[in-house]
Amino acid sequence: MPGANNYPRKDLKDIQVKAKRPPKDMEETPEVPKAVTLPGDIWQIGSHRVICGDSTNQDTIQKQLFEGRTTSLVFTSPPYDNQRSYKIGSINWTDLMKGIINAIPAEEITQVLINLGQVHREHEWQPYWTDWLQWIADPERADRWRRFGLYIWDQGTGLPGDWNGRFAPSFEFLFHFNRKERRPNKIVRCTSAGDAVPIDKKGGLREKDGIQGSKWSHAGTKVQEWRIPDNLVRINRQATSGLERGHPAVFPIGLPEFIIKAYSEPGDIVYEPFAGSGTTLIAAENTGRVCYASELAPEYVDIICRRYMRMFPNGAKPTLTGHGDFFDVANGRGIEVPDDAALYRVGTGTKRREEINTLEAFL
Ligand SMILES: C[S@@+](CC[C@H](N)C(=O)[O-])C[C@H]1O[C@@H](n2cnc3c(N)ncnc32)[C@H](O)[C@@H]1O
Repeated sequence: MPGANNYPRKDLKDIQVKAKRPPKDMEETPEVPKAVTLPGDIWQIGSHRVICGDSTNQDTIQKQLFEGRTTSLVFTSPPYDNQRSYKIGSINWTDLMKGIINAIPAEEITQVLINLGQVHREHEWQPYWTDWLQWIADPERADRWRRFGLYIWDQGTGLPGDWNGRFAPSFEFLFHFNRKERRPNKIVRCTSAGDAVPIDKKGGLREKDGIQGSKWSHAGTKVQEWRIPDNLVRINRQATSGLERGHPAVFPIGLPEFIIKAYSEPGDIVYEPFAGSGTTLIAAENTGRVCYASELAPEYVDIICRRYMRMFPNGAKPTLTGHGDFFDVANGRGIEVPDDAALYRVGTGTKRREEINTLEAFL
């Protein structure tokens, strides 16, 4: 969920970004289109699967979506605390997150990475994750998950504006849980790949006596081409510009792509329990992985299908078993699918203008 979206309206109202609005009397109240998707539908998109359902329901996820299969990687961005009003009503955040974790069709090596951002209320940031973190790693629970890693997602330069006395937000967290470690893939190119490390180079970790480099020095060897990522994940937040604008909390495709490349292999099933506008599914398609995703709101499931068809016009059409493809189903249910082409046309706008539009949606 990108930074600016995670701040209460009170904080947002001070953002000094002014986007042009049409005069009041010209504003139209957009009609909310009825969704093609119905609760319980499972769309097959090539090898990907998307269910419109509740990810806390073990039957929905393990039997219906996964049909008994397992996942090697979970990557997701849940709602942060009880902050945002999606199309799903109010939630108890800790219960929601316990339910999601309990429903994961896990295998021994499954890695779970969860993106969470800060929430501010009453002039304080809220440690809303405390009860959930205690529960997840509770040593009394046989099926506990280890609090294995904590990483920072560096989103790039902070957005302009007045943030009520705080520095402009430009990072979020990535919590990494597992039961058994899996070595991350080396996916980051070394800047001096192939160069020889000077023979007298004293590099590497200090040893117990405080002297640097002997046992752990790479002196005399060549710098490797690729290395494992470090724990500051640098992926710029992205202006939403296409169909994903219909969702209030989209993360950049580069983020799930990075995590997927690091912690899975081509062909692996990546599970996304809070699919939103389908960003993780797109990242899976881009990286040759398979995504099984779940999203509660039918309107957002429609966005996933339509966004996929727009981004991969030569790819598979979302299909509902026994009912045909997305357009057949829309016809059968008497729903008109909007023409999405205009949303993908880049007008005179620049990335900056897109960013303003995105912020505008929250003001
Ligand atoms: C932060 S958004 C995810 C956005 C996504 N990362 C993207 O890029 O579009 C969280 C999503 O979780 C969905 N959601 C909330 N509770 C859910 C539940 N119990 N089961 C499935 N989806 C749920 C919301 O409707 C919302 O679309």
